[in-house]
Amino acid sequence: MSEIKDSFISDVSKKCTDESQTNGASTKNKDFKPIRAKDKRVVNGLTDINQLAPFKYPWAWNFFLNANKNHWTPLEISMSSDISDYKNKLTPNEKHVYENVLSYLTTSDILAMRNIGLAVMEKMTAPELQIYQARQVYEEALHTWTYQHCIESIGLDQGEVYNRYRIVPAINNKIQIANKRINSILRSNIELTNPDELHNFVLAYIFFAAVFEGCWFYNGFSPIFSLQRRGLMKGTAEQLQYIMRDEVMHVSFGIRTILQIIKENNVQLDLKSIREMWDEAESAESEYAKYILSNPIVGYSAKGHTDHFRFIANRRARQLNLDEPFPNAKCAFIWLDEQVNLRKEKNFFESRVTEYQSASLLWVDDED
Ligand SMILES: [Fe+2]
Ligand SMILES: [Fe+2]
Repeated sequence: MSEIKDSFISDVSKKCTDESQTNGASTKNKDFKPIRAKDKRVVNGLTDINQLAPFKYPWAWNFFLNANKNHWTPLEISMSSDISDYKNKLTPNEKHVYENVLSYLTTSDILAMRNIGLAVMEKMTAPELQIYQARQVYEEALHTWTYQHCIESIGLDQGEVYNRYRIVPAINNKIQIANKRINSILRSNIELTNPDELHNFVLAYIFFAAVFEGCWFYNGFSPIFSLQRRGLMKGTAEQLQYIMRDEVMHVSFGIRTILQIIKENNVQLDLKSIREMWDEAESAESEYAKYILSNPIVGYSAKGHTDHFRFIANRRARQLNLDEPFPNAKCAFIWLDEQVNLRKEKNFFESRVTEYQSASLLWVDDED
């Protein structure tokens, strides 16, 4: 049997020698050899990107399997009480918060989709990572649909809401910071074997996973969760809980991928650049909080929002094995993690079949 196998491989070898391509590296003039898991790399690998197994990163494949257990569409969640709440119960200040949060999130999620789908996926050289990222691309599109469904259901002026990020400096600034990162890696001539290019790519990945998704999104939903705690806009909040579930996985996967790239390529992070990244992110988040909460709403303030950003930033830094950027930060919203990780489960199982239960812990945002 093994002779037959060897002769088959040898036969294929002759045919493939001049034809097969690895990830950008031709196998021309090399003998065809079976893929060995140990030869795979997250980036700069030379193994065949079209061959899934053997796995070197089984955790990445598990992310893909688990992501498929959190499937929903925004049409499954009733928005009827939100329509009434928005019309009859929300104060002008609460409407200001609600509309601007949606405006910020919808623009951000398109950016997140473009980042992972156009700038990151093509750099990966192990298919088990690319496949989860393909799922992530879909999820970011699903999130954009979800915001659109909320905006449309409530009857907001779409031309106004979608253009708001262009005219509100505090929202625009966060988008431009992200644009700067994506533009620095969305180039066809990027060469990750160059240490400077690789370092820049890792910084951009840290920004998107740990700051953009890990802090700004994580924190970004909380003003609406605070309305939900008071019995308001519950449909929108439940939609965001489903999104949060995806985002927690995106953050966790991103950080794991970053750590693997650092390990495989012996990347020495420039800590000054990391410090500048946290400071820029904190400043932008503070300005954003002051704008959306220029008049605080019951149970939620700009100061609390920024304080909580610092608290979550420390969590992301620890997950990356980095020093906490804001050592004295305290948890400003004790209820938020519970809202995200536990109460969501309750809602989830009340409205969905219980077959997902076995995977429930996967969506808990913790220290990994
Ligand atoms: Fe998203
Ligand atoms: Fe995401």
